[in-house]
This record gives sequence, structure tokens and C-alpha cells, in this order.
Amino acid sequence: MIRLNANLWGTAMTHDTTDLALGYDDGDIDTNRTANPSLNELAQAMLSRRQAMRNGAGAMAMAVFGGGLVSACGDNSNIGRGPTDPAPTAGLTTSGTTSSGRVVTLTGTATDNNPVSSVVVTQTGGPAVNLIPAATPNSFTFIAPVVSAATTLNFRLTATDTAGQVAVADASVTVNPPALGFNAIPKNLNDVVTVPTGYSVTVLSRLGDPIAAGVAAYANDGSDTNFAQRIGDHGDALYYYGLSATGTRDDSSNTRGLIVQNHENITQAYLHINGPTTTGGVRPEAEAIKEIEAHGLSVIEVTRALNGGWSYVQASNFNRRITPNTPTVFNGPVAGASFMQTAFSPDGTRGRGTINNCANGYTPWGTNLTCEENWAGYFRRPRATDDALRTPAQVTSLVRYGVASNNGNYGWSTVTPADPANTLFRKWDARVSGASATADFRNEPYHYGWVVETDPYDPSQAPRKRTALGRMNHEGCWPGNFVVGRRPAFYMGDDAQNEYLYKFVSATPWVAADAQAANRLAIGDKYLDTGTLYVAIFNADGTGQWAPLVFGTGPITAANTTYPFANQADVLANARLAADVSGATRMDRPEWTAVNPMTGEVYLTLTNNASRRPNTVDAANPRAYVDPPSTAVGNRNGHIIRLRETGDNTEATTFTWDIYVFGSGSDLDATNINLSGLTADNDFSSPDGLWFGRATNASGQVTPLLWIQTDDGAFTDQTNNQMLAALPGRVGDGGTRVVNNNAGGLTGSATTRIGAAPGTQLRRFLVGPRQCEITGIDSTPDGRTLFVGIQHPGEDGTFAAPGSNWPATQATGSAPASTRPRSAVVVITKNDGGVVGL
Ligand code: FEO
Ligand code: CA
Ligand code: CA
Repeated sequence: MIRLNANLWGTAMTHDTTDLALGYDDGDIDTNRTANPSLNELAQAMLSRRQAMRNGAGAMAMAVFGGGLVSACGDNSNIGRGPTDPAPTAGLTTSGTTSSGRVVTLTGTATDNNPVSSVVVTQTGGPAVNLIPAATPNSFTFIAPVVSAATTLNFRLTATDTAGQVAVADASVTVNPPALGFNAIPKNLNDVVTVPTGYSVTVLSRLGDPIAAGVAAYANDGSDTNFAQRIGDHGDALYYYGLSATGTRDDSSNTRGLIVQNHENITQAYLHINGPTTTGGVRPEAEAIKEIEAHGLSVIEVTRALNGGWSYVQASNFNRRITPNTPTVFNGPVAGASFMQTAFSPDGTRGRGTINNCANGYTPWGTNLTCEENWAGYFRRPRATDDALRTPAQVTSLVRYGVASNNGNYGWSTVTPADPANTLFRKWDARVSGASATADFRNEPYHYGWVVETDPYDPSQAPRKRTALGRMNHEGCWPGNFVVGRRPAFYMGDDAQNEYLYKFVSATPWVAADAQAANRLAIGDKYLDTGTLYVAIFNADGTGQWAPLVFGTGPITAANTTYPFANQADVLANARLAADVSGATRMDRPEWTAVNPMTGEVYLTLTNNASRRPNTVDAANPRAYVDPPSTAVGNRNGHIIRLRETGDNTEATTFTWDIYVFGSGSDLDATNINLSGLTADNDFSSPDGLWFGRATNASGQVTPLLWIQTDDGAFTDQTNNQMLAALPGRVGDGGTRVVNNNAGGLTGSATTRIGAAPGTQLRRFLVGPRQCEITGIDSTPDGRTLFVGIQHPGEDGTFAAPGSNWPATQATGSAPASTRPRSAVVVITKNDGGVVGL
């Protein structure tokens, strides 16, 4: 606790009183205070400046009430008469006991027989807070600071009359550690985004919104073109990058920033006037261009107005689309490998585009990591004709990654372009057709499945594909907590049935100064191009190992009978095959990873697994059952596993693990399915998006807040997809549990490691519109604005009968039935301005 020397405090008071006379302590201004938010902003900025100036004396808060607070009673005849002048009276009340991240209100009173010369509120004890004028007259608010135990904050109101007589009133506020700050909302099937009482939702950006000057508003009737200058479809992961007032990187900005969002896929039905054209098995060029450009990434500038509303800046110079056509560069061990050579890239070092960008990651040096997930199906490579034209090793590789489509998703390679030299459609044809690899696109599938780094602050830089992190159906790439002098790690799920969890450990120990380097992608080169890729083995006893995927180590050699590995580039491009022979644990579809910013523990969503059976369960994937009304057998509702690195060290090669929570309807068998005791307040299915609050605010400190987003088809008879918030414990806070499975004529049991039941520390926060998934989440650094992605509402509908009308429904709850749905990003705020979720 910091306490100020009384003399210093007095000096500060004098300074502040003078200061306020210039910009704030003015009767006219104060009268309009509630109607003019800009004055609140002004006062807040002024208080912040003052706190900075007082740095040496301790950053205690102080605020001066305006004249509206002061009541003058009686006559004014004795102004300044000393002993005959009654002293003022003072009062100060607070909104009471609270917890970290919540808004606290201080309300003052002061009366006197004539106008007092000053009324000042000072903080006299506890962690420093920033007092902000409230909408209610005579009141100030502050955000309760982050504390790890109940902590008292003290405040004093001092009223001084014109004769120099003083009255004081004291008040205190007890602040408890962070706690969930909302009541669980019910499951529902409504066509809007629902959030708890006390929170608000607004739509920030939608499919098709123009992001360049002069581009027309989205008609949303299938006639729109030019998606290279519009927001893409199927928005997935997103991240907010702060911008200063002058347009430079500012990691602390809460009012201006760039949102980098992935556009994973498209709902073809809504992109064209009458749906897609496939006449004669050939796609029209114009339709294919739209579909291609609607994939990729968007970078948009967003700003917060003084009234708190957010919007994007259509003409910002930062705005950018990165599409499957955008030039890219390959970095790391695979760049230039012979299997990377194509007709476009004879030396195998350059490529075009990124696709199926699903989850993400960020770096401390200010760049974005986007991850290529379901790319394999986009390529035309019928096995019946193409396998015979390949070596056995090539066939093994292509089949292991699922490059075996007869036409490729959406049939883009069937386009006959107006310009015969244009190979942007032909590149989706991976058949061996030319005389050599540089005469066709047989190797184009090796250009995808990577983690891709982009610099959101510099639209001129080509994205760099970081091949050292391996090739797979990359879901996300989340960094472990960075520690100076330690080699950082990135955690990555490979999302397909029975695939693996990976981590990449950089060869380079972290240097703090690199976080603010000017050449951000050069820092990426330093940390992401050299290192070791590992795959996870989960042991039945709650321990685990990271197996290195290194050429020449263990079974990863040219002599391997599964696949003859040629070199490390070959290992990285075929990371799944290297993991197969390394004893990796087959998981129930690894989706997002999230890292607890306080403990470094790693959480991984295992969304579901349609091919898990009672006789193939293991300790880390222990359930296979039926969730009615479906009769399908599998891990139907998914679970969230978590691990703790040995020594809490990102470099560790061993860990311990348990299962934080099992997804389930609350109506399912409590003994073998609803193992975490979920109730109507928190039952869920198919966890996918996963994110901890940022460590820059109360939602990422002490006991960080975990957000869970679902992408489900098994629970949608009861509810649309949803988002929950939780305050989880630690790995090992529960015990062991025997799970007995009996479904589909098969039985099997496993003894798993299960965390403490979440109880009321896990609650449903949001339910999305119809036929959507909830995916993509980040906040401003202060945690008071949450950005959430709503992907593919109405995905099962047609252009004639949309499956949802959202987001047009959001404002009033309804929209014309013909309104086409649009993926969109929403802004969620707490109505009182507190940290969202707390
Ligand atoms: Fe794109 Fe696995 O979700
Ligand atoms: Ca008086
Ligand atoms: Ca996902």
C-alpha cells in the first residue's frame, strides 16, 4: 500500500485545483457533463496526465467535484467573515464491496452557507486507481484494481469554504479478487446474439463490408463483386493490434487498433444471385474469383468513438485483404525443397496465397500468425488416375494429408480463364500433367498447411510461411508465456479425427528488446525459422512427453518402412507421418490452444470425434457414447484437456495433464458421460475457440478468465452455438475417474485424469444466432471491449430460404425472411464500463 506524505498531497491538491480551472472545474462545462461524453474523456485524460506527473509521490487518485455538487444554504452575507462563518459539511459514499475489474462509484456531498472554494476527493489508501467523472452528478467511478486477496481502498472528500474552513468525509471500498460478473443465460434457438443482463452487443463488421475508399456498400443479394476489397466470409479467429493517435503500433491503445481476422471458408449459396453455377461441371470465372477472394484474411482499422461505440474505418490505409491469390514467401527449412517447385515457383521459395485460415496466434513482437486448416480438399487429384504417376512415397504423403478429391472443393480448377496465362485457377489442379514439377502444379498442395506470419502494421510486406512449425491441418498457433533468456514455445492443434497436439520450441532464447523492434518480420525470422517441432504423448498416469520430430532421430530416418524420410524438410512437410512413427497420442480432434497468462498451463479443445469407439478409448480420450436424438457413436460432445510443462518451462520435454472439463448435455448419464457435472447453466458440446483474457487487465490476472466457444452439431436440438466463461483451477486439482463406455455394440473403459468439477465457475455467457458457430475472440488491452466472431449463420439454408437472417435481426429480433445472413464480428461491452465477464 502506498501512502502519501501529507505535505506532498497538499502540493498536489493546489496544483490540481489550478489545473482543473482550465479545463474542467467550470460551471458551464460541468452543467453539461452528463450530456457531453467528450468532457468525461477530457477529464480522464487530464487525471491520467496528473497521475503520471505525480509519479515520484505515488500515483494516488484525486478528483475535484464541480460546482453542481455544492449546496449553498442560508444567506451569503457572511462570506469570508472567519469565525462567524459556519464550516461546511461533507459526505462520501461508495457503491460497496466489489471485485477486480468492476466499476466502483464514489458519490460525494458538501454543503455550506455559501459556495465552497474547493471540493476534492483523494485516494488515501490501497492500490492506486483512476477516478473518472460519472454520468450521475457528484459521482466518480473507477475500475476496481487487480488484487489477489481482499484489499481496502480508502478515499477522502475534503470541502473547503471561502474562509479556509475544512470538512472531510472518508469512505472505503473492499475489493476482492476477480470473479465472474454475470448470471448464466439459458440455452436458446433464437436468431440473435444473446448476452447476459447488463451487457450489450453491437455489430462491428460483416461479410462484404467495403474496406477501401469508393467501394460500394454490400448489396447482400449475390450481385456483389470485388471481395479483395471487402470483408471476407466465415470470419474465424481474430486479434486486436493497438494503434496510437499518430498511427503507429501502440500495444496499450484501447480506442484505435487493427483487427486481423481469418476467413476460413464460404457459404457458397449466399455469394451468388441464384447460388453457385456448376453447369457441365465447369465453374464460371467470375464466380470462382468471388469465392477465392472471400477466403483468406482481413486487416481493418477500428476506432472507438467518445460515446463508446466502435466502427471500422472504410478508407484506412492499414486495411488489407490477404487472399488465396496474394504473393507469399516460404521461410525455414522447407523453403526451396524440390517438392515445393511449381510452374509458378520453379525454385520453391515463393507461393501464392493462404487458405482455410482457422485459428491464430500472436507474437510479442506485434505480428499475427494465421493457420491453414482444411486446405487439402481444395485440390483436384483423383487417386484413380494420379497415384500411378507418383512415387510410392508421394502417394503415402498425399493420402496421409487427404489430397484425394476428384474435383476439389468448389471446382475452381475447372475455370477456363479469360487470360490463358492466368494460372490462379489451374494451381488448384494438383494432377501430374506436365513434363516436370515446374511445368504443372502437382506440388501446389505442399504450399499449404503452414503457419503464416503477417505484419498487420505494414501492408507492403508479403506474408511469410513458417515451415519450421510443420505442415498439418493447423488449427491455431498460440504462444506459451515468454520468459527472457528462455526459448519460447508455440502450441498447435492438428484438427482432424485422431490427429495430434504439437509444439514448436524456438532455437533462440527470448530477448525482451525484440518485442518493439522496427522490423517485425525479421524478428519472426529470428524466432520462428529455427527450432524443434515436437508432438505430444499423453500417458495413462497423467504424465506426458514431447517427442521431437527430427530427421535421423529414432524412427525418423530414410529406412523407415511407413515413409522413407529424406531430410528435415521432408519431416516438416510430412509432420503427421513423423508423428505417426513417434508414438503420438491420437486425439479427439485438436482445435484451439490457449495459455493461462499467469501459470503458463496450456489448454486444448478436443471438439469431438466421430470415429472414437468404446474399444479405442484411452486415458486422454476416454469417452465413446451416443447423444440422442442422434444414434451416432463417438466422443459426441468433446472435452478440454490441459497440460503443465515440467518446471513451468516452455523448453520442457515432459508435462503433466488432466481434463479440465467434459462437454455434455446436463441430461446425459452423470456417471460415464456428464463427468464434469454440467447443469442447465453451463452444459455445452463441441468446444472449439478457446482464449484467456489478456494479462493487461483483471480478466487475465490472478485467476485468468477462460472463454470457450462452441462449433457443434450434436447439441443443436437444444441450443444454438454458444460461448461460456470460466475461472478454471490448476492441472491436478481433481483426481482419477474410471469411465465405462457401452455403445454401438462395443464396450471399453479407461481411467482418466479429471480436474475439479467447474460448478458455478463455468457459465454460459452468449448464445449465437441460428446455424452459426462462435469463433474468434479478443479484447482491447483494458478488457472493456470484447470482439467476438459469429461464423456462418444460416449455413444450411439456400439463397431462396436462408437458414438465418442475422445480423439484420440483431437490433429488433427480426428481419425479412429473405434477408441473407452474414458472418460478422460483434462488440460486447458491459453497460457500466467494467471489464467484460467480471
Ligand atoms: Fe476451422 Fe477446426 O476449425
Ligand atoms: Ca461557510
Ligand atoms: Ca475452429
